[in-house]
Amino acid sequence: MLLDIDDLSKDKILSLIKEAILIKNNNAKIINKKSIVNIFIEPSTRTKISFQKAQKDLQMDVYNLDFETSSLDKNEDLSDTIYTLKQYGINNFVIRSNEEEYWKKINIKDIKIINAGDGKNNHPTQALIDAMTIYESFNTLDNLKILICGDTKNSRVFHSFKKLIQKFSNCKLLISTPDKLKEKNIEYVDFNNNLPNVDVVMMLRIQSERHTEKFDSNKYNEKFGINKNNIIKLQKNAILLHPGPINRGVEIDNDIGYENPQIKILDQVKNGLYIRKLLLGKL
Ligand code: CP
Repeated sequence: MLLDIDDLSKDKILSLIKEAILIKNNNAKIINKKSIVNIFIEPSTRTKISFQKAQKDLQMDVYNLDFETSSLDKNEDLSDTIYTLKQYGINNFVIRSNEEEYWKKINIKDIKIINAGDGKNNHPTQALIDAMTIYESFNTLDNLKILICGDTKNSRVFHSFKKLIQKFSNCKLLISTPDKLKEKNIEYVDFNNNLPNVDVVMMLRIQSERHTEKFDSNKYNEKFGINKNNIIKLQKNAILLHPGPINRGVEIDNDIGYENPQIKILDQVKNGLYIRKLLLGKL
């Protein structure tokens, strides 16, 4: 069961990360033949496919339920869907929903859920992935200076990562976002001025699908994005993350590839497989 990153202590997070790194480096085999259903009510590429690949590697008995091709699209309640699937002997679920804390409405005993994202609220497996990727570079999650830039207000990745990193010691989180996406009571910094001073830069997607007013992303990249002119300002040992999907030309410019070893975006993608395999193996 993993719904919120706060379900995990600092020690548990560290032990999961170290275990996932061991699985990755040793190509370790884990088997779990339980039945599981992936319920995706919102779109996904990375989360959905990495869960499915991990489940196949574990030899799980896997079923996929997407919104558009299931009775959820005929207004079936998520609880009724899960009661239904439980009659087939299925008690394990990976769920992504647009509804925050959807699990509070699912009062069903003896089921286990891994949260694959609930609205703009949580994305705990992504937070573990991002922390694992940082840990691989710095061998610690303490004493880091981290610059996060993007649509923090609407980002479940941000909300889960913030909770995670606050469990560690002496980490400084700097946040940068355009005026139109700012929230009250948060101190924001200039992105380009802070770029040369941090260990980790985490770019976050502009989440247009959650905006009520149209956000103009023209010229966004100059002030809040990574491009050929500012990527060279990164410290030698600093790393650049983006949980994906990227809005090209917005958070990251079109001519920035993956070849620069400071760009760890594909490592984040790869680590998704190992974090999710580990969590599924423990169900
Ligand atoms: N990072 C992430 O959740 O990506 P997907 O929406 O492609 O799963």
